[in-house]
This record gives sequence, C-alpha cells and structure tokens, in this order.
Amino acid sequence: MRNFTLVGSLIALAAAADSADTAWSYLPDKTAAWYKEHGQALPELAPAITTVTANKSYVVKLECVGCPFRVRELYEVVEHWQEPPQENSLLLNFTVDDARPGLLLNGKRIAPLDPMPLSISAFQTPANLSQDTMTKMTTQHMLDRSWVVGTKYGTFELQYEHAVIGTRAFGRNWIQFDVTAVHQRSTYNAASAKLDKEGQKMVQILLREPVDRAELYIEDVQVVEREDRVKPFKMKCGKLAMMRTEYNPLEWDYYGKIGTVTRTLRLMLSSITDSWGVLTFWAVVISAAVFFRRRIVREQQEKALAEAREEAEAALLASDYSAEPPAYSDISGPEEKTEEV
Ligand SMILES: *[C@@H]1O[C@H](CO)[C@@H](O)[C@H](O)[C@H]1NC(C)=O
Ligand SMILES: *[C@@H]1O[C@H](CO)[C@@H](O)[C@H](O)[C@H]1NC(C)=O
Ligand SMILES: *[C@@H]1O[C@H](CO)[C@@H](O)[C@H](O)[C@H]1NC(C)=O
Repeated sequence: MRNFTLVGSLIALAAAADSADTAWSYLPDKTAAWYKEHGQALPELAPAITTVTANKSYVVKLECVGCPFRVRELYEVVEHWQEPPQENSLLLNFTVDDARPGLLLNGKRIAPLDPMPLSISAFQTPANLSQDTMTKMTTQHMLDRSWVVGTKYGTFELQYEHAVIGTRAFGRNWIQFDVTAVHQRSTYNAASAKLDKEGQKMVQILLREPVDRAELYIEDVQVVEREDRVKPFKMKCGKLAMMRTEYNPLEWDYYGKIGTVTRTLRLMLSSITDSWGVLTFWAVVISAAVFFRRRIVREQQEKALAEAREEAEAALLASDYSAEPPAYSDISGPEEKTEEV
C-alpha cells in the first residue's frame, strides 16, 4: 500500500514539476556513455562521508556490497529489481539533535538508543552518485522527515547491530552502527539481502559530551572494515566497556518481539476487545496459570534436589576426614515429590 502511495506521489511530483530543481530526484541519471557521447567529463563522485554541518551533521554513503538494486521508474507503479544489480549504497544521515541532546540516524534516536523496536530505513542510491546530486540531496534535505515526496530511490528497512563503546575519557563514546541486512517488505517484489559480503563496511562515530554543558559533538565519523572497528577495553570489574543491541525488523510485529512474553500479553489484551477474544483470553490465562504453577513446582523441586546434592557432596567431602559413611538418605526425598505432580 505504502509503496503505491509513494509512487503515486512520485507521479504527482513529476506532473506538478514546474521547478527543474527537483528533477534530479526522479529523472534517470545520465550514464557514463551519455557523458562520452556529449564530449563531457564524467561528474565528480560523492565521497563516502559528506559533512553537512561540521561536528553536527554528516551523511554517510555506505556501500552495500552485492546488494540487489531496487528500481523505481516514473509512471511505473510496481518497483522491480535490476538484473544484474549495479553497485549501490545506503544513505545514512547522522545528525546531533540539540533540542533533546542525542544522535539521530535518519531521524531516529540512536544515542541514547531509543527502546526497541527502533525501525530505521534508508534510501538506496547508485554507488556512483555524483557530488552534484549529493549536494542537492543535502541542501534540499532529502534525508529529513519533512521530505515526503517520492523519489527514484528505493528504501529499505535496516537490520542492524548497534554498539556503544566506552573510551577511557569521560563523556566520550564510540557509537558503532553496522547494517547486517536490508529488507523490502512491500506487497510486490519483496526481498531481503544480507550484508555479509567481503569488504562490507560499517560506521563508527565518536561522540563527545563536554562535562560542563548538555550538548553533543560529533568528533569523528569513520567508515571502517568490520574487523577494524574500535574494540572495547576491559573495565576494572572485568566486563567490557560496551553495550550491544541487535535489531531485526522481521522479528517484530505490531504487538512486539515474536516469541516474547510481552508480545503474548499484548496480543492477549488486544484480543479481549473482540468477542472471540474473551474465550482466547481465558484459555491463555488458564494455560499460563497452569504453566507457571508447573514451573514453580519444578523450580522448588530442583532447588530441593540441588540442596540435597550439596549436602551429599558436603557429606562425601566430610567423609574424607571423618571416615564416616556419606549421608545419601536425603536425596530420595525430592524425587518422591516428583511422583506427586
Ligand atoms: C554509474 O553506474 C552505472 C551502473 O554501473 C553506469 O551505467 C553509469 O554509466 C555510471 N554513471 C557514471 C556517470 O559513471
Ligand atoms: C538529517 O537529519 C536531521 C535530523 O532529523 C534533519 O534535520 C536534516 O534535515 C537531515 N539532513 C538531510 C540532508 O536531510
Ligand atoms: C569537530 O570535528 C573535528 C574533526 O572533524 C575535531 O577535530 C574537533 O575536535 C571537533 N570539535 C568538537 C567541538 O568536538
């Protein structure tokens, strides 16, 4: 559905296009052959990292190694996959939010990380995006929530690994963002791709929060090989100074993360609202009650058994010194209880 709306607005935009200024966003790019034919030099390419505002806002063009390429054509309602796919990239807009200090990625708060599910999507562009087009994208804020018209660029939901790596300096942390897969879940031509090819890079950002004010600065942005990422150090307590979060949009639905108790509860609550739901509700409540009772009983048994074992072991150890026979008699107690259930 959403797809049609997007393409619909793409058509609407094209139809209403009076300013040639947005043509870059929906007309096909000129090819290398075109430039040659017209005796023009090839355009300069956009770099992997574009500084929009120093220390505050950067656009990363992350090459998506071996990814399929989604084609959106003017007046074509259905998007399709290019065969073979051209080299392509994902656009990641890392911007400090000064109003509520934090780091946003494509409009979503990734430091401090908002609770899961945190769905983040990204535009896909050809890898050989020109500098000129990148400049238009940034000056016209294509990677902003306010950009609502369709473009020729496909979008993907990101599956990702997020990590905060502490440094020994107070208020200075690395935020690592590794896109592990991309998903396109539209009704037509849905597909997913893992970013597991050799040479796939990731992004790491050094964030600094001065002690004296509630403000954030991006001190460094790097696009690195996965094996070259900054590694956490070991804290005094022996733990690594690192916090890792993984997100896969396919593991979540409207009710929560599939397979978790929270989701089951939410699903249950929502099903109460319809008439069949009442039955379902009680069925679930009863089976949950049975389940929990069983579990409590089992836990009690296990505890008793463990205690008995400990006692027996202690007795065995003691027997080395006292030469008395070990006291096994206790062990049979909890096992007898098992029969009762
Ligand atoms: C960009 O890459 C595509 C696909 O490989 C190619 O057809 C096109 O000519 C390239 N454009 C430029 C300006 O190099
Ligand atoms: C990047 O994101 C910020 C925050 O959401 C937004 O204000 C800015 O316009 C975006 N940049 C671009 C180039 O769209
Ligand atoms: C701004 O970024 C530069 C590197 O691009 C860095 O050297 C400098 O320390 C940063 N400034 C602040 C206030 O973080």
